[in-house]
Amino acid sequence: MYFYAILFLFLNFPLKVLGKDEPLSIEQVSAQISTFMKSGPTGTISTSVTSSSMLSGCALACSFLNFALPGEISYPNSTTYVYEESLYWSTQQAITSPTCRFTPTCTSDVSLAVLTVQVTQCQSAVKSGGHAAFTGASNINGGLTIDLLKLNQITVSPDKTQTFVGPGNTWFDVYSQLEGEGLSVIGGRVSGIGVGGLTLGGGISFFSGRYGWACDNVNTYEVVFADGTIHEVSYASYPDLYFALRGGGNNFGIVTRFDLVTFPQGDLWAGSQTFIYDNVTAAALNEAFYYIDENSMVDPYAQAILAYAYVQSIDTYIIASDLQYGKPVANPPILQNFTSVPGAVANTLRITNLTGLTQEFNASNPSGFRQTYWTLTTQNSATLIADIVEIFMQEVSTIKDADAVLPSISFQPIGTDMISHFSKNGENALGISAADGPLNLINIVVSWSNEADDERIMAAARNLTDRANATAYAQGLGNRFIYQNYAALEQDVFEGYGEENKEKLRVVSERYDPKGVWQKLQPGYFKVNP
Ligand SMILES: Cc1cc2nc3c(=O)[nH]c(=O)nc-3n(C[C@H](O)[C@H](O)[C@H](O)COP(=O)(O)OP(=O)(O)OC[C@H]3O[C@@H](n4cnc5c(N)ncnc54)[C@H](O)[C@@H]3O)c2cc1C
Ligand SMILES: *[C@@H]1O[C@H](CO)[C@@H](O)[C@H](O)[C@H]1NC(C)=O
Ligand SMILES: *[C@@H]1O[C@H](CO)[C@@H](O)[C@H](O)[C@H]1NC(C)=O
Ligand SMILES: *[C@@H]1O[C@H](CO)[C@@H](O)[C@H](O)[C@H]1NC(C)=O
Ligand SMILES: *[C@@H]1O[C@H](CO)[C@@H](O)[C@H](O)[C@H]1NC(C)=O
Ligand SMILES: *[C@@H]1O[C@H](CO)[C@@H](O)[C@H](O)[C@H]1NC(C)=O
Ligand SMILES: *[C@@H]1O[C@H](CO)[C@@H](O)[C@H](O)[C@H]1NC(C)=O
Ligand SMILES: *[C@@H]1O[C@H](CO)[C@@H](O)[C@H](O)[C@H]1NC(C)=O
Repeated sequence: MYFYAILFLFLNFPLKVLGKDEPLSIEQVSAQISTFMKSGPTGTISTSVTSSSMLSGCALACSFLNFALPGEISYPNSTTYVYEESLYWSTQQAITSPTCRFTPTCTSDVSLAVLTVQVTQCQSAVKSGGHAAFTGASNINGGLTIDLLKLNQITVSPDKTQTFVGPGNTWFDVYSQLEGEGLSVIGGRVSGIGVGGLTLGGGISFFSGRYGWACDNVNTYEVVFADGTIHEVSYASYPDLYFALRGGGNNFGIVTRFDLVTFPQGDLWAGSQTFIYDNVTAAALNEAFYYIDENSMVDPYAQAILAYAYVQSIDTYIIASDLQYGKPVANPPILQNFTSVPGAVANTLRITNLTGLTQEFNASNPSGFRQTYWTLTTQNSATLIADIVEIFMQEVSTIKDADAVLPSISFQPIGTDMISHFSKNGENALGISAADGPLNLINIVVSWSNEADDERIMAAARNLTDRANATAYAQGLGNRFIYQNYAALEQDVFEGYGEENKEKLRVVSERYDPKGVWQKLQPGYFKVNP
């Protein structure tokens, strides 16, 4: 429990400028806040009803941080607040209103906020790129939102084997800077996604066949712990916490720097082919998917995403095959089962670079809509894909009249080449081993515009997920994995990592966060020890 505020309320400390560089203890922060409450920022006893002595909870946290770190707090309707709120991808997150937004400029500022929310008992949220879709994932009504926007360093090590990346960056920032040097890292496939959330939840890249997921390619994390202290977390320094950060989401501290494995990377061959749905084309593409998942280890430079979507304006289903090859080689043999399917009505396959490609995908995933993400994982089967697409069409038929609705379901291989990298530096927390693979990772996404449709759209997405999963299990093709970065809030992500890893994560949480700060005071998103 949090006795500090009460304990230190009765002590009188002189109010001084807080050190910007050295983190304080919770006792010191309590003392500062209690003095701030008594004297107000000017040091004079105030009798105004709006004086700091009247404040509590988040109003006090915001007011104190505004005093201690001038310029880093913004309030509703200010230019900064409105701008930062506009950076969320989904409408549900963008319309969420915290009491204030805090935009730290260095790691010790983050540390001060972590202690301040404990002393004041103010609930908080942390935002990196703001692409998590559901309400409260990285923003909080009435709370304090820590926006990592200004922790935006991108520094390549002198030997060019790692890049030190702040969580304020999007992948566009990272790729466009590294591209000029002929380098890259493992990150998102859409330019606007943030470095923080994607990496902490797993992180699938165009190059994951060669290197694994983003969480398998972080050498060191700089982390602010719940007690405000700052640590360099690597496999060597904290193996248990390092394991937990590789898929554990926002349960283990605020990461203020990711040291990313860096490798030479030039242009690639990539883009999408789009087809109007018919069952013969679908069967050929599902078959191509099956074989690339089975054969991924033959050429780990290749990646594919197979997606089905309903296009409301023409009342038609389309199929897209998004293909990527990590070298500037057109139509390599590994992808020819896709490219030989006739009848594409659009084709953007070309030699491009990562920035160009991720900008193309950013443009096809616009912000400014209501959004829901759901996921399940199955074993690899072309006919199971067809069965699930049939369920998709049935559920979509119940929502196809909703304003601006855009439902899609995508299938991605988790091939044995990818899985082989999950055991780098110990292992990641996802609970997938070579014996499970190859797998098919399914992502259900619906975007729409009218709040009045929320309930039936959520019901259809939930039904689709449940029915697809039941169908897979009934055919002996089920898998427990639930990918955090694609999951709806009500899905049990950590159960999907398996009992053993779920328990390991709970133990690491209790060890590094005995007071449950990340569980209770940062309530949004998926919790390992709720
Ligand atoms: C259009 C689109 C495309 C996508 N493409 C991909 C893809 O190619 N590959 C893939 O794997 N996933 C993909 N995703 C899923 C994506 O990885 C998740 O939505 C992810 O959570 C986004 O990260 P973010 O930093 O932008 O989100 P945020 O909403 O900012 O953060 C998500 C969660 O992580 C926490 N968090 C973020 N940074 C930190 C930090 N530094 N310390 C502690 N906690 C932190 C937040 O508190 C929040 O709970 C995509 C999503 C969208 C919407
Ligand atoms: C912000 O502005 C809107 C519209 O001008 C107003 O309705 C709202 O009350 C304002 N909010 C605050 C907290 O000032
Ligand atoms: C396509 O649908 C038709 C008519 O329903 C059916 O006869 C045919 O077998 C289907 N073909 C495939 C490949 O599923
Ligand atoms: C392409 O599909 C055929 C079956 O139609 C399969 O035998 C072959 O292995 C596939 N090729 C690749 C590279 O996956
Ligand atoms: C990457 O492609 C974009 C156009 O899509 C181009 O503007 C940019 O210069 C390219 N970068 C490099 C390093 O070639
Ligand atoms: C991605 O697209 C959104 C609009 O949907 C835009 O606001 C944002 O700037 C884009 N991000 C990048 C990195 O280009
Ligand atoms: C699928 O069903 C299994 C077995 O009932 C269950 O354990 C799992 O959580 C379900 N997965 C999803 C994504 O609902
Ligand atoms: C969801 O499934 C249940 C039972 O399977 C059904 O009663 C309900 O109508 C379905 N809802 C939607 C929106 O499809």
